[in-house]
Amino acid sequence: MTPSVVEIIQRKRDGEALRAEEIDEIVLGETPDYQLAAFCMAVYFRGMDAAETFALTDAMVRSGERIDLHGAIGRRVVDKHSTGGVGDKATLAVGPLVAACGVPFGKMSGRGLGHTGGTIDKLEAIPGFRVELATEEFVRQVAEVGIAVVGQTANLVPADKKLYALRDVTATVDNVSLIAASIMSKKIASGADAIVLDVKVGDGAFMKTVADAAALAEAMIALGREAGRDVVCELTDMDQPLGHAVGNALEVREALATLRGDGPPDLTELVVDASSHLLELSDLGVDAEQARRRVRHAIADGSAVETYERWVRAQGGDPDESALPAAPFLREVFAPRGGFVERLAALPIGMAALRLGAGRHTKDEEVDHAVGIVCRRKRGDAVEEGEAIAEIHARDEASADEAADAVRAAYAIADEAPPPVPIVLQTLRG
Ligand code: URA
Repeated sequence: MTPSVVEIIQRKRDGEALRAEEIDEIVLGETPDYQLAAFCMAVYFRGMDAAETFALTDAMVRSGERIDLHGAIGRRVVDKHSTGGVGDKATLAVGPLVAACGVPFGKMSGRGLGHTGGTIDKLEAIPGFRVELATEEFVRQVAEVGIAVVGQTANLVPADKKLYALRDVTATVDNVSLIAASIMSKKIASGADAIVLDVKVGDGAFMKTVADAAALAEAMIALGREAGRDVVCELTDMDQPLGHAVGNALEVREALATLRGDGPPDLTELVVDASSHLLELSDLGVDAEQARRRVRHAIADGSAVETYERWVRAQGGDPDESALPAAPFLREVFAPRGGFVERLAALPIGMAALRLGAGRHTKDEEVDHAVGIVCRRKRGDAVEEGEAIAEIHARDEASADEAADAVRAAYAIADEAPPPVPIVLQTLRG
């Protein structure tokens, strides 16, 4: 007999492992919010083993609709997900790039919350772009255009929506089992066969150390294996923003530049690497070397940009870069001294962009798609005294001034260049 919810919480509180049917009872029963919150706190302190984490993920997947992309399209479909960072516009480039190489790409994305941006907000910077497609439209577009990126449908893992909202307000977000189940339940339910997970590490990420990020990556790879999905995890540096641009329309421009072959080196490396893994995991039958060559070729021959334009039009958007909104105030930030950029901290840059209006403090806030920050100089770059190292794109002068102060403080300039850090720190495979 399954024990009552209070007994299940008590068993977890006391450090016991739960059975799958007990986790089902918590997740799929009529458990009130106060008991769900207590359950999350018990898991936060006591953790879950691999079998419990899988049972939690599986129960969450069964809480809503499941999309059979593979069955509907008759091909292996790939997806990519990032655990969230500052200036992370990689999906906007990876999606069209792999689609240009002939691999179907279907992704459900989230909005930004706090200092981290969300792909859906970035896409909404494109005039006319529709992020809400019905499930049938989503599947049809992946089949016909080769790529669709949409917001999560209301019925995709409703248990995660509920649990995540509770975790957010009960200080129980940063637990490996809870994060892994939250991310992987959505990936499994939305139907891709192979997934590249970009696990961010550093000051601007959930996971502050490589060891914590590796633990999360291992947990997600194990969940993928149990669910019959191929997962590759890349641990990537989030001690500084990815690329130069932070802010929705600015990031769309930078993703487009990357698709043209003019992107910043770190973003280009991450995009090429993630796309190559996705090609390797696809049904193209290519090895790592061939995958990388094809991805580079799609950038060089213009097919990546053409695919981006086709994709944006298919979702009702105007792919012309000049249609993107621009902020009325531009303020430059100057180097206080000459030397090398020793540090460009991601978190304060993300927070400054948030305060400019590029993100939201609460779920219901409106986002200003035009504003943001461009970090012209990054870690290791040489700078001269008085040189413009960053630019602020703001709605008004007061917010530009405030952001300029924060951005100046996010930079540290030293006599010596710091040792170089690669963008991809580690790659883990299932
Ligand atoms: N992203 C998610 O989707 N869920 C988490 O728990 C953390 C990051």
